[in-house]
Amino acid sequence: MNTPQNESDSLAVVGLQWGDEGKGKIVDLLAPDFAAIVRYNGGANAGHSVVVGGKRFALHLVPSGVLRPSCDSIIGNGVVVDPEQLLKELDGLTEQGIDCSRVVVSSRAHVVMPYHKAEDAAREKALAESLGIKAVGTTGRGIGPAYAEKVQRSSAVRVGDLLRPDWLRERIRAALAFKRPVLERWAPDETDAIDEDKLFELAISWGERLKDRITDTTILLHDHLDSGRRLLFEGANATLLDVDHGTYPFVTSSNACALGIPSGSGVPADVVGRIVGIAKAYQTRVGAGPMPTELTDSIGDAIRERGREFGTTTGRPRRIGWLDLVALRYSARLNGVTEIVLTLLDVLAGFDEIKLCTAYEIDGKQTTHFTPDACTLESVKPIYDTLPGFDDEITEARSMESLPANARTLIERIENYVGVPISMVGVGPDREQTIMVQSRAGAGTVD
Ligand code: GDP
Ligand code: IMO
Ligand code: MG
Repeated sequence: MNTPQNESDSLAVVGLQWGDEGKGKIVDLLAPDFAAIVRYNGGANAGHSVVVGGKRFALHLVPSGVLRPSCDSIIGNGVVVDPEQLLKELDGLTEQGIDCSRVVVSSRAHVVMPYHKAEDAAREKALAESLGIKAVGTTGRGIGPAYAEKVQRSSAVRVGDLLRPDWLRERIRAALAFKRPVLERWAPDETDAIDEDKLFELAISWGERLKDRITDTTILLHDHLDSGRRLLFEGANATLLDVDHGTYPFVTSSNACALGIPSGSGVPADVVGRIVGIAKAYQTRVGAGPMPTELTDSIGDAIRERGREFGTTTGRPRRIGWLDLVALRYSARLNGVTEIVLTLLDVLAGFDEIKLCTAYEIDGKQTTHFTPDACTLESVKPIYDTLPGFDDEITEARSMESLPANARTLIERIENYVGVPISMVGVGPDREQTIMVQSRAGAGTVD
């Protein structure tokens, strides 16, 4: 499964579970080795936390390399951009003393308009309350409706269109022709979201503020590559939320796994030689959908409290489960991961025993193959291996040798099952709280 790695390879960081694996922390850690950090999918549904010297930064649209002054921060064409959120985030970071002058956004990225956010909320409410159908539990950031508009074409607004008033007004008018009846029926209070003049003025004001950052980012990426510089692609959301390969329909609306990189950024697939999959030492999920190893007992509550498992974007409590190795191996294969970073291991300290799901029972038959089919996955009975826990706090550990033996055994069991080396282990949220397992993978230098 592992592909040969080359020092000149670009790298991808992707989530292997249902999001919030700690991608932001690892992107920030690796960033100094790369010329540019590139978002290729998703939008402000992502919430990536980076903690430096105890100070916490929450990033939604701005790539997690922004704290590293040597890196370009590139929002690629595959992202759906809410300019309101982007401007707020840039202002907030600037106030915190972060230099945002190298943040650029693709002119071909699509704009999340207020009517997309209104539609997102209205659809979720209508499904749950009026139709009695299980809602997806979206972040409410307008992601699904914005991607749907992109595929519809003629009514979509691209970031570059914010600088073309006549064209912009036509797009908004076309969109409203179809949105207005829907929103008047399902979101009657959202009058501003269907007011053509107000929307046009708002969009023009976004364009004025963003104009120096809007560019053809694909050209920038190719220039970097032609000069021998390496890129780091930052996945948002995660593999099991991928619109094609995740637990559909309980997924997001983009290709969140590494397969989305070429289309979402405009670089050929073979540019990315190192694919770093991020996995928590347990499982979390926000929103609805199947989760075979979910814990609804006091152990789940304890993990949630210890891991501070509340959403970075919405503040919702995350659902908790034991680590699902069946799902993890599926994600590793799908992405072609060359190494795994195991995060939040410190959260599992203090439990008498730790469980690993090593097989599923479906209709009385055991299998080690994952299925992303949500209906089948709902009926899965997880089969566990139980390992002894470790009592010691490990937040100060900086080497494998300083970990308790039972923690090392856990790591080895995961590696052996998935068949991919673990190159780093997270023992706390801070940039420094990371064990580099140098001997097991070609991990880059980290300052
Ligand atoms: P992302 O969306 O994948 O970037 O992850 P989030 O930032 O949404 O959620 C991960 C949470 O875990 C954040 O609060 C991080 O600060 C925190 N975190 C990351 N790695 C570790 C770790 O190894 N240990 C602990 N205790 N927290 C971590
Ligand atoms: P990061 O990048 C966790 C989930 C939502 C919901 C589903 C669809 O921080 O890991 P959407 O708003 O995208 O239409 O919601 O996907 N979801 C995430 N869950 N972390 C994320 O991003 C997520 N992005 C989307 O909770 O279940
Ligand atoms: Mg997150």
